[in-house]
Amino acid sequence: MTLKSDQNNNTLENITITPEQVQFWDKEHIIHPWSDLSDSPPDMTQIQKAKGIYLEDGHGNKMIDGPGGMWCVNIGYGRREMADAIANQIMTMTYSSPWFTSNQPSALLGKRIAEKTPGDLNSMVFTNGGSDAVDTALRFVMYRNNILGRPEKKQILCREKGYHGSSFLAASVSGTGREHDRRFMDTHEDIVQMLPNINPYLRPEGMSAEDWCDAKVKDMEDRILSVGADKIGAFIAEPILSSGGVIIPPPGYHKRTRELCRQYDIVYISDEVVTAFGRLGHWFASEAVFGIIPDIITCAKGLTSGYVPMGAAIISDALMKDFDKSGDVARPFTNGYTYSGHPVAATAALTNMDIMEREGILDHVQDVAPHFQQRLRDIGDKYDIIGDARGEGLLGCLEGVAASGVSEEKKLQIDSNFGYMMDEACEKRGLLVRPIINMCVFSPPLIITHDEIDAMFNILEEAVIEVQDKLKS
Ligand SMILES: Cc1ncc(COP(=O)(O)O)c(C=O)c1O
Repeated sequence: MTLKSDQNNNTLENITITPEQVQFWDKEHIIHPWSDLSDSPPDMTQIQKAKGIYLEDGHGNKMIDGPGGMWCVNIGYGRREMADAIANQIMTMTYSSPWFTSNQPSALLGKRIAEKTPGDLNSMVFTNGGSDAVDTALRFVMYRNNILGRPEKKQILCREKGYHGSSFLAASVSGTGREHDRRFMDTHEDIVQMLPNINPYLRPEGMSAEDWCDAKVKDMEDRILSVGADKIGAFIAEPILSSGGVIIPPPGYHKRTRELCRQYDIVYISDEVVTAFGRLGHWFASEAVFGIIPDIITCAKGLTSGYVPMGAAIISDALMKDFDKSGDVARPFTNGYTYSGHPVAATAALTNMDIMEREGILDHVQDVAPHFQQRLRDIGDKYDIIGDARGEGLLGCLEGVAASGVSEEKKLQIDSNFGYMMDEACEKRGLLVRPIINMCVFSPPLIITHDEIDAMFNILEEAVIEVQDKLKS
């Protein structure tokens, strides 16, 4: 077999491509996210087929999809209805420019999303994904403050362990792996006000969750006062810090930080790229789960269930009304994308919403989530190697404590081994998980049944036992 990328077999038609060829071409040509470019590329699990909640690798092995793609395949894989809707839209009207035309699916989607958002969040910019939804939200805040004659109000409050994307601006306000992720990458440090980790698991022994909440709200208010509210444009926060390890802020934190934003005239951006479209059993989690109405919500992922790329930054009427509509001076919001409101993506989002409504997927998540959370916490309680088991809705994380009591240097190595070993132990038993250093996170497709949740946690438990035995031996 020739493994050269310049051979003639470079279309997908009439050829059989082996898993070995895929691996070769992948390593030869594809730069994956977070690749260490000074190391040789690793062998990656190849996903060849997927249906419902199951994936199949290049060798025919079937696995439950623990991370739901990348927290995104909410309605599950391989829906014929989606494929037909997308194909029909392509044949009806493939593309229209958002600069000087409108189209039916995009306008209809705007209306349907506005019906589901909390409060007065009714205007939106459609984007290609989550990072540019976040960029759009932040650029909107800066644009608005320029128009309101306060160009100094540009600093952004954000949080350690928050993740908001990989574009320059979104990466700048992200606090995941600050020590590692930013070591060789530039960011806009001049506009970033990073607040300390809010993970209740880290609170000093004996401190109550209420006192921790007070401390975290104080961190934020102290920062506002030291920098000056007249310099701070926005606070950006995921309702649950997902990529940071499914960190759920202490009770009351959301409402109190929302209140601080109101008090100091700071725009509250709720980054619901993971939590919107059903992950916590609601269209949007900000109000339904955490009792707050933000000024802006960003979303992506579950919006189309990952069938095609799309995101949105959804803005409140209250913010929009500040613009003088006289039109006597041009003040364009020069932000937008070739594919904003792409008719095919908008059709996928509309079909996704149809399916979620018709099949009662939000109710289903609310039904099965308590069982999911119980199984997760049972594992946390039972095994010494698990320091914390946390989650909400169909979002969960197991955090390992294999590396307690060792130096920082050794800790990263042992922690990474924990994630890697869990990954391996789960995958060979038929479950794909997402390891993040010493954590495993799960966000399966929302259609997962009670029995499939059991199957998933049975594998997870066997894997924990194996890893615990290995690490103790
Ligand atoms: C909360 C949050 N915001 C933004 C993003 C970036 O989204 P995307 O990868 O679609 O650009 C992510 C991605 O994981 C995310 O979890």
